[in-house]
Amino acid sequence: MLRLVAISAALLLAATTSYAQNADAIKQRREAMRAIGQAGGDPFRMTRGELPFAMAPVQAVLASIIENAPKFKAAFPDDSKTGTTDATEKVWTSRAEFNAIIDKWVVDARAATVSIKDEATFKVEYPKLVATCGSCHGNNGGYAPGLGDSFRRMRTPL
Ligand code: HEC
Repeated sequence: MLRLVAISAALLLAATTSYAQNADAIKQRREAMRAIGQAGGDPFRMTRGELPFAMAPVQAVLASIIENAPKFKAAFPDDSKTGTTDATEKVWTSRAEFNAIIDKWVVDARAATVSIKDEATFKVEYPKLVATCGSCHGNNGGYAPGLGDSFRRMRTPL
């Protein structure tokens, strides 16, 4: 009897622990992507001429990608495929390609901290960086839903 209680306690602990890890990883990667998405709001409006050009929001989004993209990449353990996540199965089946997109994204963001100096260079260089969002976000066969759906997701609490 005592042994049975000990076994059930151990099983319960194992179940709780793996659930907690899973939820933590999903929360971490969503927070990381959310930080990038939020920092990208003003530069995006600048590309559309809805806000006047300014360097500070550009520097902020580049810094956010450099800081958060590696955290995002590290938060896809095997036990985090299900739960409150929009990540598709493709993250795990095409992991090398997924990681390569993120690595290139960080390299490009670092390069952009040098190449974007003013409004003219912003207009040329920034859209290239934003195009990377579309390498992952797309309703057909992407790693995540289209950007419109993902931005709506940011309104739900984490
Ligand atoms: C390497 C692939 C990849 C790139 C590049 C990428 N995303 Fe994501 N993004 C994802 C995945 C996967 C998720 C879903 C994460 C989850 O729900 O577990 C996501 C989620 C999001 C979310 C929802 C966050 C939330 O609140 O849950 C937003 C907003 C977002 N991305 C915006 C962007 C923007 C803007 C860019 C470009 C500046 C970008 N993403 C680039 C893969 C990517």
